[in-house]
Amino acid sequence: MRETQPVLFDPNIQAWHIFRYDDVLRVLSDHATFSSDESSFLPPEYRNATPISSSMLRMDPPRHRKLRNLVSLAFTPRMVAHMESRIQEITNGLLDQVLASGEMDVIRDLAYPLPITVIAEILGVPAERREEFKQWSDASVGGEAESTPEETQAIMQAMDSMKAYFNEVFEERRAHPQNDLVSALLQAEVDGERLSNEELLGFCVLLLVAGNETTTNLIGNTILCLDEHPEAVERLRANRELVPGALEEALRYYSPIKLTIRGTTTETMIGDQRIEAGKLLFAWIASADRDEAQFPDASQFNIEREPNRHLGFGRGVHFCLGAPLARLEAKIALNTMLDRLPGSWHVSDAPLSPIKSSSVFGVKQLPL
Ligand code: HEM
Repeated sequence: MRETQPVLFDPNIQAWHIFRYDDVLRVLSDHATFSSDESSFLPPEYRNATPISSSMLRMDPPRHRKLRNLVSLAFTPRMVAHMESRIQEITNGLLDQVLASGEMDVIRDLAYPLPITVIAEILGVPAERREEFKQWSDASVGGEAESTPEETQAIMQAMDSMKAYFNEVFEERRAHPQNDLVSALLQAEVDGERLSNEELLGFCVLLLVAGNETTTNLIGNTILCLDEHPEAVERLRANRELVPGALEEALRYYSPIKLTIRGTTTETMIGDQRIEAGKLLFAWIASADRDEAQFPDASQFNIEREPNRHLGFGRGVHFCLGAPLARLEAKIALNTMLDRLPGSWHVSDAPLSPIKSSSVFGVKQLPL
């Protein structure tokens, strides 16, 4: 598609697909022309469908900048570095269980529980509600077009119980502030106003959706890449300084987020195509990151690729807020696996089931 139809209109969904690196980069970087606000690209009946709709992911500057400045206090690289010892502790505990049981599914035993435990702690969810929290997290990323009515019903119920839970927490922390993210958000002001319950909920759900499955898939997809390139595991064992580069390459090669959406605020040209105002755009990150014009030998997995300006965390004002946290979790997960699981790794030969999603790339199980 990048060669023959890099900017393609799909009449069935009335949306444009953008496939080349330079074009995707432009769409992500020019927020004035390519808006993240649902009102610029969704018909009224589809807007505000989930709490994410009222999160900063679906806002444009200037309001986006104000909200982002506020919540980014919790995600500075320094704050994240402080969490290193706790992430290591959680990872060690998970790998202790793996070694005791003698078998490992990378997703079930490490890549899934690690980020959800970390984010639950950041949000101050008590240990006894972690199981429910997992169900809400799964529900927040569910809801694909092919979901059955029963699945949709279960998702709606989980979302309602999550909303009720967070509303309780907001009331509780308003009355008795603690030293946690929710209390900080409740006290923070944007333009002299406190955040509404809806905005607070949007942010908490955004952290769940944006931060959990993506990090799970970064860890899982990295293991997939290494399974396909066993010589890379040997090089990583010999030189741990190559680990961060290997993770960046996994983000490029098997991007956990395949695409993101924007809407045109004004008529514009992309390549030789004229796109009207108010059109929905799919910016294909996974395609951009395999563009030969940007990445020589793009279909080769090269842990020493330099430079590697992949778009796996997006670009521009919405650049992933959790990137330092995701990088740290994945680095600790991979380094600890290299430390504690010696010898060669081999993913089971049984066929893997991909996650059913148009925007997320990963597998459901990964037996090692
Ligand atoms: C935004 C990817 C982990 C929080 C984004 C965007 C991408 C992305 C592509 C931009 C979306 C757009 O422009 O429309 C990823 C990947 C991750 C990851 C691949 C893991 C490997 C995390 C984590 C958190 C997080 C761990 C937090 C706990 C966010 C937030 C935004 C965001 C809050 C919205 C930022 C804004 O609108 O300004 N992420 N993410 N992400 N991500 Fe991540």
